[in-house]
Amino acid sequence: MDISYILNELGEERENYFNAIAPPIIQTSNFKFNTVDDFRNALADEYQGNLYSRGFNPTIDILRKKLAALDGAEDALIFASGIAAIAIPVLALLQQGDEVICVENPYSWTIKLFNDLLPKFGVTTVFVDGSDTNAFEQAITPRTKLIYLESPNTFSFEVQDLEAIAKIAQAKNIITMIDNSYCSPLYQQPIAYGIDLAAQSATKYLAGHSDVVAGVVTGKKALIKKIFEKEYMNIGASVAPQNAWLLLRSLRTFPIRLEKITTNANKVIEYLEQHPKIERVLHPFSSDNKQLDLAKKQMKACGGLFSIILKTPELEKIEAFCNNLKHILMAVSWGGYESLIIPACVGVSKADFDVNNPRHLLIRIYIGLEEPDYLIKDLEQALSLI
Ligand SMILES: Cc1ncc(COP(=O)(O)O)c(C=O)c1O
Repeated sequence: MDISYILNELGEERENYFNAIAPPIIQTSNFKFNTVDDFRNALADEYQGNLYSRGFNPTIDILRKKLAALDGAEDALIFASGIAAIAIPVLALLQQGDEVICVENPYSWTIKLFNDLLPKFGVTTVFVDGSDTNAFEQAITPRTKLIYLESPNTFSFEVQDLEAIAKIAQAKNIITMIDNSYCSPLYQQPIAYGIDLAAQSATKYLAGHSDVVAGVVTGKKALIKKIFEKEYMNIGASVAPQNAWLLLRSLRTFPIRLEKITTNANKVIEYLEQHPKIERVLHPFSSDNKQLDLAKKQMKACGGLFSIILKTPELEKIEAFCNNLKHILMAVSWGGYESLIIPACVGVSKADFDVNNPRHLLIRIYIGLEEPDYLIKDLEQALSLI
């Protein structure tokens, strides 16, 4: 499907709302029925239509169609957050006694889901090195029901071979799921590689303005319906119509925003790679990335996120560098218009910081829509002070 069609037309029935170009926000909790029969039919299969906005809603439906199409998927569910779009499908797929194989170092709340929440329900998880495809195969037991990937992750950017892992899983009837937030469907199409479910934090590039928290999962209709009918409806973490509308608005500029972010980030990376105070720039397309061929095979580009390591990575230097920045903001998240920085040491107490632990040394930078020279100047003055 043509991306311009998806973003500008798909799902939009303008004749049904006064030929307005922008769709309405159908800000309603419930929908009326004319007959008991209609009401009964709707209740019997809520996946078919509008009954109550904890389930479906016409504004959200437009977004479902567009986000499913962007992923090349049959259907999508939209959630109140990215982590809900991960946790709720995972809960829907698993039963007591099941096992999960998860890639090492996924998003922090994904780790907590597998390590803290699922064991309460008798589900266990093994974490494997994602760069070793055989490790996934070797970790499979008769109880394995789900292989969970995040390629690349959003701090150290390791990638997994999506096609090979999907094949291994399919041969054993194991469901595969990926967090595709880093690439978005514009830069990586996991479903085309045989992955069953593609989740994203829509808070990031899809929303793109740091004003909405939302999530999406896409996949085959049967799987999406299964997630919808029990866990989605029961846990009740669907997106609000107002936020769905903001996401629709954001989608109009999604490709142009991501393109500009990518160009900006590449210029900043080029500057940092030759800087004498920078030891390393980590991102999937770095020339020193051991997984470069795989990254280039399955990803179109890299977007705005990467990490750096300072040449003298003492805690005081990392902190001083971040504290000295004037325009690049210190905050969580990414994918918006504004450039951000987060040193990994914020998640470690000062006493536990270990200069010999490479993960403690990472400083993640997100490049937004500002002009790259403006950002480079900011980085330059902050680096000059350490
Ligand atoms: C890679 C990744 N996945 C998932 C999430 C969770 O998304 P949300 O914050 O929208 O719940 C985040 C949030 O930072 C993320 O970075």
